Amino acid sequence: MQNSEVFNDSLPQHIAIIMDGNGRWAKSKGKPRVFGHKKGVSAVRKTISAAAKLEIKAITLFAFSSENWRRPEEEVGLLMELFITVLSSEIKKLHKNNLRLRIIGDITRFNDRLQRKIADAEALTENNTGMVINIAANYGGKWDITEALKNVAARVERGELKAADITEDMISEHVTMSDLPDVDLLIRTSGECRISNFMLWQMAYAEMYFTEQFWPEFNEDSLVEAITWFVNRERRFGCTGEQVKALMEAN
Ligand code: IPE
Ligand code: IPE
Ligand code: MG
Repeated sequence: MQNSEVFNDSLPQHIAIIMDGNGRWAKSKGKPRVFGHKKGVSAVRKTISAAAKLEIKAITLFAFSSENWRRPEEEVGLLMELFITVLSSEIKKLHKNNLRLRIIGDITRFNDRLQRKIADAEALTENNTGMVINIAANYGGKWDITEALKNVAARVERGELKAADITEDMISEHVTMSDLPDVDLLIRTSGECRISNFMLWQMAYAEMYFTEQFWPEFNEDSLVEAITWFVNRERRFGCTGEQVKALMEAN
């Protein structure tokens, strides 16, 4: 077996990232928080391109939590504008690279313009066969499980199912991303060690990697480092960062 085949088998299939620390990064440079959010977009670009090169099956990025509405109105407004701008400017490139973009979360709270952009972006890339990129926007892990339970409860209400017969598999089928493997690797930047209501069901067995780096500083090498940590930890298979990097550069 080729070395690269060994690595391919041990790589995570589904990576989730809590992109945190934009505000603190900007502050450390004496700039407004929004400067950090803008710089965070280039970290997203680098991460997506590195993950695609490694042929990761899916990547889920936490962009806006259901709790983030509590931030100052001005910051929320700027984040929404940035979201629209980035969707418009990046979608063609994602499509050209055969990547599939999906938004997970309760998008009904977004303005019509943004909801339309989301629908167009998803429709354009839905038949692509490469990596799936899920952007979690107005997403909450508790919301996700609640929605799944509503669906299962509706089946009980229609008399198709007894409450006592509800299984974990039924709930798994109704949470978001039920067609993807569960998350193997969660990355959170900025030194915070909490889940902040990100995926709860889908991360039941994820390895969790916390780095002090702020999100705007995250790049290809940071992803390689996280994946190397994962491979060495989860699969008990010794490999070096150089080997993961070589695999990325070979594709
Ligand atoms: C993450 O960075 C981006 C979003 C939550 C939108 P933060 O904005 O949380 O930055 P910090 O944590 O305040 O530094
Ligand atoms: C989590 O980051 C949400 C996103 C990265 C979008 P926060 O910075 O909002 O999380 P808390 O509030 O510090 O837990
Ligand atoms: Mg934060």
